[in-house]
Amino acid sequence: MKPEDFELLSNLVRDRSGLVLTKDKLYLVESRLLPLARKRGMAGLDDLVKALRTRREEPLMAAVTEAMTTNESSFFRDLKPFDFLRKMVLPRLIESRAGKRSIRIWSAAASTGQEPYSIAICLREEASKLAGWRTEIVGTDLSNEVLEKAKAGLYSQFEVQRGLPIQMLMKHFKQVNETWQIDPALRAMVKFRVQNLLTDLSRLGAFDVVFCRNVLIYFDQPTKKKVLSRIARLMPADGFLFLGGAETVLGITDAFKPLEGYRGVYQLTGRTAH
Ligand SMILES: C[S@@+](CC[C@H](N)C(=O)[O-])C[C@H]1O[C@@H](n2cnc3c(N)ncnc32)[C@H](O)[C@@H]1O
Repeated sequence: MKPEDFELLSNLVRDRSGLVLTKDKLYLVESRLLPLARKRGMAGLDDLVKALRTRREEPLMAAVTEAMTTNESSFFRDLKPFDFLRKMVLPRLIESRAGKRSIRIWSAAASTGQEPYSIAICLREEASKLAGWRTEIVGTDLSNEVLEKAKAGLYSQFEVQRGLPIQMLMKHFKQVNETWQIDPALRAMVKFRVQNLLTDLSRLGAFDVVFCRNVLIYFDQPTKKKVLSRIARLMPADGFLFLGGAETVLGITDAFKPLEGYRGVYQLTGRTAH
C-alpha cells in the first residue's frame, strides 16, 4: 500500500474514532479492509482508497472505521472488577443512594455485550438488596454491528466458555441449538445505543458507575484525556470509574484518582476536568 493511502486511512480512522494506527499496523489495515472492499464489489484496496478520496460517502467511512476497531471481549473479563462491583461498589451505593433508590451504570465500550451483561448478572446476584430499586444499565459502542450482536444476546459455546463459570451459564443462559441465549430478563436490563466517545456525551445523562475498559488503550494521550474529562462530567462526586487492566488515569488527567486497594477503580478528585 502506498504511504499516502495508508495515511488517508489512518487519518480517517483516527478522526472518526480516536484509534491510532501506526505504520506497524499495516498488516491489520490490509487484512481487515480487503474483505470489506471485496464485499462492496471492489477489486482491492486501491479501489477502496480511491472511493474514500473521491466520494467521501458516510456509510463507507463508517464501515472502514468499524472494521478497524478491535471488539475482543468476554464475560467477567479479568474477574476482579466484577468482584469489586458486587462486593464494594454496590454496597456503598446502596447505602449512599438509600434516599432515591436508583443506580445507573454505563458500559462505555460495550462491544458485543459481554461486559454489560456481566454487570446485569452482578445486579441480579444482589437482587435481594436491590428490591424496590430502579437500576439501569446502558451499553454503548461506536460500532452498530457489535451492538446488533449484543442486543441479540446470543453467544457461541466458545464465547460463553471464556469467563463464565458453568453454574452461571446454567443459571442465566438457555441453550438454543449450537448457541447460548442470555435470559430475557437480563437482556431487558441493558439498553444498547450507538455512541462515539469522541462526541458529545451529555445526552446520556449521569452515571453512578462507568465501565470504560479496553478502549482508551487504542487512543493517543490527548484523546484519552478528552474522553476521561467528558466521562468525569457525567459522574457524581462519589461515582466509580472502571478502566481496563492496561489502562490508567495517571499522567493523563487529574480529574480521577485510583481508589486504593481496588486496582482499576477510580474516583473523581473534584478537580475540574478540561
Ligand atoms: C476491545 S473492545 C472492549 C470491550 C469491553 N469493554 C471489554 O473490556 O471487554 C473495544 C470497543 O471499543 C469500541 N470503540 C472504539 N473506539 C470507540 C469510540 N471512539 N467510541 C466508542 N466506542 C469505541 C470498539 O468498537 C470496540 O467494540
